[in-house]
Amino acid sequence: MIARAEIALPSYVNEILAGLSSVSKSLPCKLFYDQIGSALFEQITRLPEYYLTRTELAILEGNADEIIKTAGSPISVVELGAGTATKTRTLLRSVARRQIRVKYFPVDISPSALAEAQRGVREQFPGALVRPVIADLSHGFGFLRDISGPKLVLYLGSSIGNFDGNESTELLRKLRGELSSGDALLLGTDTVKSEEILLPAYDDRQGVTREFNKNILRRINRELGGNFDLDAFCHRVEWNAACSRMEIYLESCCEQQVLLRWTGTVIRFLQGERIHTENSYKYTDDMVCRMLARAGFQHERTWLDGQKWFALHLARVLN
Ligand code: TRP
Repeated sequence: MIARAEIALPSYVNEILAGLSSVSKSLPCKLFYDQIGSALFEQITRLPEYYLTRTELAILEGNADEIIKTAGSPISVVELGAGTATKTRTLLRSVARRQIRVKYFPVDISPSALAEAQRGVREQFPGALVRPVIADLSHGFGFLRDISGPKLVLYLGSSIGNFDGNESTELLRKLRGELSSGDALLLGTDTVKSEEILLPAYDDRQGVTREFNKNILRRINRELGGNFDLDAFCHRVEWNAACSRMEIYLESCCEQQVLLRWTGTVIRFLQGERIHTENSYKYTDDMVCRMLARAGFQHERTWLDGQKWFALHLARVLN
């Protein structure tokens, strides 16, 4: 009893309990990114099937000067969901050519990824000001008030696609609310393409994505005293054409029950019952422009790779 009282439960415990006790079970995808999950995601970005990171990086490398020129200068670069900031360095190189001091504010939910981002950027740009911000974006963008002057906000890697239609517009609208006239947003979005390319990107041959998906259960076991048997769940992915999104699930292989000791919760699963762990929306140009407009941004330019597999959009805050 005393031991239980002394355990500090994680702040998102209510989200987990609500998700697992609802009729169609789900878990918030931000839970993926603990230390193990962030490292697994880094591995995903290097998989042959996961075209997204590679393609986005190629667009950045081919167009960094033009992107930064379009954004305007001098600017502070704020990166939402920065991770280890590997892709960002090409952009920062272009910033360094146009202004005396590079100012970079990586924002992420994972402290370990941020430490890595800070180390890497400082090493490459010794004179840069690098200020990591640990934040959960679903709690808003108040941290932007502490960053003065014109900004370029980066939201890369199709992270926006992990929110559904209303949530993503709402997130961008909140972001817009903390920005000033003339500030710019560089938004990465994955494009709609055939299932033969989409499905393997979320279900790779080596099984790294499967491990990444199951890591959410490992985390609950550790942080909520759960007894999820990771072998009793399998990784499932589907393309939902009507909603234009990849859907990712953990499916119970048998009828079972799971106990979360530290909250005293029992969760029952039928055989084949699923936990929805993530959506990843794939966008047409129209969908992006509508989303930006509804959030109060003016779409200015789009850069694509040769195969049109990924898109980067520059949008402006107007007043
Ligand atoms: N934002 C990434 C994406 O939508 C996250 C991701 C990649 C992911 N692979 C995954 C999330 C597998 C869950 C499961 O592409």
